[in-house]
Amino acid sequence: MATPEYYTLEGGDRMPRIGFGTWQASDEVLERSVEAALAAGYRHFDTARAYENEAALGRALRRWIGEDTTRRQHLFIVTKLPPGGNRPELVAEYFEASMKDLGLEYVDLYLMHTPFAFVHVPGDLHPKNPDGTMRVDHSTDLLSVWKSICKLKESGRARHVGVSNVNAEQLRRLCAVQKPACLQVEVHALCQQPALVAEARELGVPIVAYSPLGSKALADALAEKTGREYPDLLKLPIVQRIAQAHDRTPAQVLLRHTLQRGLAAIPKSTNPDRIKQNITLWDFELSASEMSELAALDRGEQGRICDFSFFLGIDKHPEFPFKK
Ligand code: A2P
Repeated sequence: MATPEYYTLEGGDRMPRIGFGTWQASDEVLERSVEAALAAGYRHFDTARAYENEAALGRALRRWIGEDTTRRQHLFIVTKLPPGGNRPELVAEYFEASMKDLGLEYVDLYLMHTPFAFVHVPGDLHPKNPDGTMRVDHSTDLLSVWKSICKLKESGRARHVGVSNVNAEQLRRLCAVQKPACLQVEVHALCQQPALVAEARELGVPIVAYSPLGSKALADALAEKTGREYPDLLKLPIVQRIAQAHDRTPAQVLLRHTLQRGLAAIPKSTNPDRIKQNITLWDFELSASEMSELAALDRGEQGRICDFSFFLGIDKHPEFPFKK
C-alpha cells in the first residue's frame, strides 16, 4: 500500500505527514527557513508558546498568505499550551496570547505541550527557584486541563486539540474524557516507542514524531551538561548503508522509516537544501528487511534525548511521563 501523505482528522481535515519543526531558531533565521519550507511544499508548521517564536512564524505565514485568503486553508498550523498554563482557568488566556502572536484567525491543532506544569508567572515561561530548579506546580489536574483545552474547539479557533509528551497510561486517561486528535512525542530510530505507538494506534490517536533526526543541537547541549553520549543518528552505519543503496541521504532514510511505520514527522532545518530533502520522501521505498534492520536500532528509554532533565526538578512532578 502507498505511504499516505496525510492523516485525515475528524471532519475530514488533512494533516500533512511531514511538517516543519521550528524549535530553537532565532526569529530571522526562522522566517527565512519558513519561506524556504513553503517554497519546498511544506504546509504543516509546528510551533509552541514555549518556543517564543510564534510571532516570527506568524509573520512568515501571513506574508505567504498575502492578499489571497484562500491560501490559509492549505496550511496546517500547530501550537501548544506551555507548562505554565496547565491549569484549567489559564488555558483560554494562553491560547489568546498565541493567537495574537501568530496573527491568524484559527489554528489547526492546539496541543497540551507537557503533562507536567510550572507555576504560572506572567511574563516568565520557565520560572526558576534561586537554586536553578524549576518552580514546579505539583497540583496539576491533568483531566481538568484537558477538558478546558477541549472547550477551545467550540469557537472554531482551535479546529483540533491534542497532547504532547504524555505516556500510554496518561493517553488512556485523556481518551476517557475525549480522544486527542494527535499525540506528538519524540520518535526516531534510537527511540522508536513501539508500545506507545501500538497503544495510540489501538486508541485511534495519530502520532507525530518530534526530533525525527535526533535533534543534534539538543543532544549536543545535553552531552555537554551531563557527559552522556548521544550517537549521531545520521552517522549510524546501517542508516548510511541503506541511504547509499537508495542513493538518498541518511536523513531521508530516517524520515522514510518514520513514515513507513505509519507516523508523521516534523523535522527541523535551517538549510534550504536540507529543507527540500526532508520533504522529498515519496519516490522511494524501504524494503521489509531494511525496515527490520532499522527497527533493531531501537534503544528503548536509553534512546530518548528530550527527557526534560534540563528542567531541573521536573521529574518530581506527579504527572512526569517518563520512567527512569
Ligand atoms: P540544519 O538546520 O543545519 O539542517 P530534528 O528535526 O531531529 O530536531 O533535527 C534537526 C537537526 O538536524 C538540525 O541540527 C538540522 O541542522 C539537522 N538536519 C535537518 N535536516 C537534515 C538533513 N537533511 N541532513 C542533515 N542534517 C539535517
